[in-house]
Amino acid sequence: MSRAAFIATTLLVSALCARAQTEFLPLLFSEEPKLTEEQAAQVVGVWDQVGGFRLDGSVLDDALRQAVEAAADGNSTDVDFAGVLADAASPFDALSFKLFIPAIDTATGAFWAYYLIGPKGKKPAVTRVLGMGAATKDGVLLTGTKDEDTGTWYGLVKNDTTLVALYMEGLEAWNADRTEVLDNQVVAQYTYAKLPPEEIQAALALVVAKGAKADNSSQGIAATDRETHGGSGSK
Ligand SMILES: *[C@@H]1O[C@H](CO)[C@@H](O)[C@H](O)[C@H]1NC(C)=O
Ligand SMILES: *[C@@H]1O[C@H](CO)[C@@H](O)[C@H](O)[C@H]1NC(C)=O
Ligand SMILES: *[C@@H]1O[C@H](CO)[C@@H](O)[C@H](O)[C@H]1NC(C)=O
Repeated sequence: MSRAAFIATTLLVSALCARAQTEFLPLLFSEEPKLTEEQAAQVVGVWDQVGGFRLDGSVLDDALRQAVEAAADGNSTDVDFAGVLADAASPFDALSFKLFIPAIDTATGAFWAYYLIGPKGKKPAVTRVLGMGAATKDGVLLTGTKDEDTGTWYGLVKNDTTLVALYMEGLEAWNADRTEVLDNQVVAQYTYAKLPPEEIQAALALVVAKGAKADNSSQGIAATDRETHGGSGSK
């Protein structure tokens, strides 16, 4: 992506996100259903990442350090900061990234989803998103959190075929002797295209296989959560 296009896209996504958030809570807490059955059908299924970029905080720091070292006499007015920003962006297609959304509740807007992400042609890692959604005039807005990371995930289902997502992860966590980053700071924006319904079977197989861990930890955590919060999800 060109530098101008990159900056324009980032500004557009920020503006969209701010506007969507001011609209979101009144919609979510209204007495009305949060979306129609037709909109729910647009949301659910398997989505394939087809565009976008990500920025890692660590990569920006490193790119900036290199640009300063390369500048004549460390002259900071000689550093192309916008260039550092554009060059630090990673392309969307380094990994295979699918998003499986099994269901969204039309009355409450509650939904859950799984990231299926990994090197192309290899078995992907499975992580969970849990969130709430509501129909807006721009499409169905989804907001959620990841199970394994500190980030916030926003999705906008524009129609039957297009979902755009913004992901922001803030906490940079280091190991005790600060030799390794365990969790990094990221902002990413991706576009997804809906895959045919036949893709659900393969996605579901990966999700179910993850739940059946040998150590049974997911069943144990679920049993404790059901007991504590009086949940009725089947055993
Ligand atoms: C720093 O770089 C700018 C832009 O290239 C130049 O105009 C200025 O003279 C440089 N300053 C020094 C102290 O080298
Ligand atoms: C869905 O939205 C995308 C992005 O706005 C647009 O390019 C595409 O033509 C739309 N598809 C349909 C079927 O309306
Ligand atoms: C996993 O948990 C279930 C339900 O608590 C139990 O019946 C089963 O024996 C466990 N399996 C293993 C391999 O520990």
